[in-house]
Amino acid sequence: MTTTTAASAAVRGAVGVAHTRVEGRAKVTGAARYAGEIPFAGLAHGWLVLSTITRGRIRDVETAPVLDMPGVLTVLHHGNAPRLKTDYVGLLGVPPDPTAAVFQDDGVPHAGWPVALVVAETPEEAREAAEALVVTYEEEPHDTALVADHPDAYAASGHMPAETDKGDLETQLAASAVVVEAEYTTPEEQHSMMEPHAATALWDGGTLEVVDSNQGVSWVRSELATMFSLDPASVRVRSEHIGGGFGSKGLRAHQVSAVMAATALRRPVRVVLTRRQLFSLAGYRSPTTQRIRLGADPDGRLRALEHRSLNQTSTVYEFVEPGAAVARVLYDADAHRTANHVVRLDVPTPTWMRAPGEAPGSFAIETALDELAERCGVDPVELRLRNEPEVGPVSGLPFSSRNLTACFREGARRFGWADRDPRPGTRRDGRWLLGTGTAAGSYGAGAAPSTALLTAEADGSFTVRIAAADIGTGARTALTLVAADALETAPERVRVRIGDSDFGHAMIAGGSMGTRSWAWAVTAAAAELRTRLAPGTSIPPEGITVQSDTTEAIGALAQKERHSYGAQFAEVAVDVSTGEVRVRRMLGIFAAGRIVNPLTARNQLVGGMTWGISMALHEEAVRDRNTGGHYAPDLAGYHVATHADVPDIEADWVDDHDPDDPVGIKGIGEVGIVGAAAAVANAVWHATGVRHRHLPIRPDRVLEASMRTPADGGAADA
Ligand code: MOS
Repeated sequence: MTTTTAASAAVRGAVGVAHTRVEGRAKVTGAARYAGEIPFAGLAHGWLVLSTITRGRIRDVETAPVLDMPGVLTVLHHGNAPRLKTDYVGLLGVPPDPTAAVFQDDGVPHAGWPVALVVAETPEEAREAAEALVVTYEEEPHDTALVADHPDAYAASGHMPAETDKGDLETQLAASAVVVEAEYTTPEEQHSMMEPHAATALWDGGTLEVVDSNQGVSWVRSELATMFSLDPASVRVRSEHIGGGFGSKGLRAHQVSAVMAATALRRPVRVVLTRRQLFSLAGYRSPTTQRIRLGADPDGRLRALEHRSLNQTSTVYEFVEPGAAVARVLYDADAHRTANHVVRLDVPTPTWMRAPGEAPGSFAIETALDELAERCGVDPVELRLRNEPEVGPVSGLPFSSRNLTACFREGARRFGWADRDPRPGTRRDGRWLLGTGTAAGSYGAGAAPSTALLTAEADGSFTVRIAAADIGTGARTALTLVAADALETAPERVRVRIGDSDFGHAMIAGGSMGTRSWAWAVTAAAAELRTRLAPGTSIPPEGITVQSDTTEAIGALAQKERHSYGAQFAEVAVDVSTGEVRVRRMLGIFAAGRIVNPLTARNQLVGGMTWGISMALHEEAVRDRNTGGHYAPDLAGYHVATHADVPDIEADWVDDHDPDDPVGIKGIGEVGIVGAAAAVANAVWHATGVRHRHLPIRPDRVLEASMRTPADGGAADA
């Protein structure tokens, strides 16, 4: 037994100092194991069979021939699968997407819908049998095309108001000296995380264990327990290392079908999704069509702002990509109207993808602001500064802190914005036309109730256990630093264990709320533990453990507009004879609360900005109207920015301490992508004089625009 106090090893100030990932060595040496590669004795392998039709009914699943194939153990489908509970609202306030609640009926609502799971002794046997399984269907006609003014579009329900309306829009537009009215579109985008979804399910006595790759073990445990009518205490979900999530790694067909098979066979069953299967099973960012009307005085001050966004969802589940929501935070106007509409098509259900709503919404509104700046003859940075609101434009609530102006000032200084010639098409470097662009971004800064276990060990070290997820963000490291400061000890004396639902309830890694929510719980636990470690306290061999719960503290937070902000700057080179666009440099300055670990924070922000380049220039999942499926659903057909596409990106931040957070954190997972695509598109306009209102800005679009005569106005609207 040793005697210690928390303060005895005091080293202040780990938060804010760069720290390499605590699990970095394990990852680069291969010691860190991912869900699809952890060995289990007696493991069987499931392979999902997806529908080949786009809409209709399953007539027959011809299991008999497949059951005779080598190694095949069972075939699960709607005719023999257990019935699941699906009429409930889960932990995140939404019912389960029926794509996850597999094999419940004979309906096929979209191409690539899971119709069966073939389980065999090896993955190869499972795959061969899955490919041999004959499923016959009755086909029905389908509609998979999102178009503006779709007759079936409706105002979205859900937790966020679909529509907001303040003032008299038409009157203010009529009174405006300058009006910008345009339509913008963004395509379907895929998360494209490195590690596809994978789960192993097994029964250990009376406990169901699921070893998974997900963004929230508490959440997935709760959903599985409810769906399968199990006592949550008898379900354990673990997810230790995750090769990216970006919103896609929630409850999906792989966990549910693995649990079904493990229950039927009473042995461990693993289901791994293939890259191609992700395109219909793992969610995606819906395409959007957005309409914007801005009206302003000659000096660029907004009198009228209207932002309408339409996204698609499936016929079985409503998912809203709230493109118009970012306008409720960024800009005020005498008349202000926003609307998020949705239309049900015969397509897979979209889902959250990095900055859901803000990413495509900011492309539209921030391009429109640039068009307004051009028309008013006001510098785009100055235009934004002139339109900074005092309070929430729609809510009227105060901002917890809003340092967007500081971001623009610092960004403009470092980017060299003052030297910019506002006229487009005036700078040239050989065959390249050069241009620069800017855009604003914001993303919500929230926190959700979480619990943390904290143990003072007998050897003087500390162990944090929290059901957090590190999806590549560096969460484990951030929590190590937060715990070290809260305990007034060195990070080396803190061990952080995450990704296990047995550690109690915690927020998911999502909504840029993970680190803040978990750090709050860890800080609260440390405060409690320190009261238990009075000088001279003896620590027994099993240590002294406390558990925190932030439900009450977070519930007591005052209603405010809580957001992170960013100012994005990009320089591009455009060759209008080939249509090629190259981003030459990019700078993002963010006001995103206290930065816990500058090393991984920069990585997050640069990652978001990189995705912005990718969104602006490359990413587009193309659906074939006839088959309802994708052309080339893989990483050869779906282009993401590669090293050669990405120049030096600089991301930095201004001081921004959240006054209502115990550590001062806001959250940085998503704000890095917001506005990034618009900054690139605005730079393309500045280089060429052509507005691109449809993403991605492909070479054919640049080329086609360059072949129009100036009399056409040069807008690439076709
Ligand atoms: Mo994120 S789209 O909240 O994982």
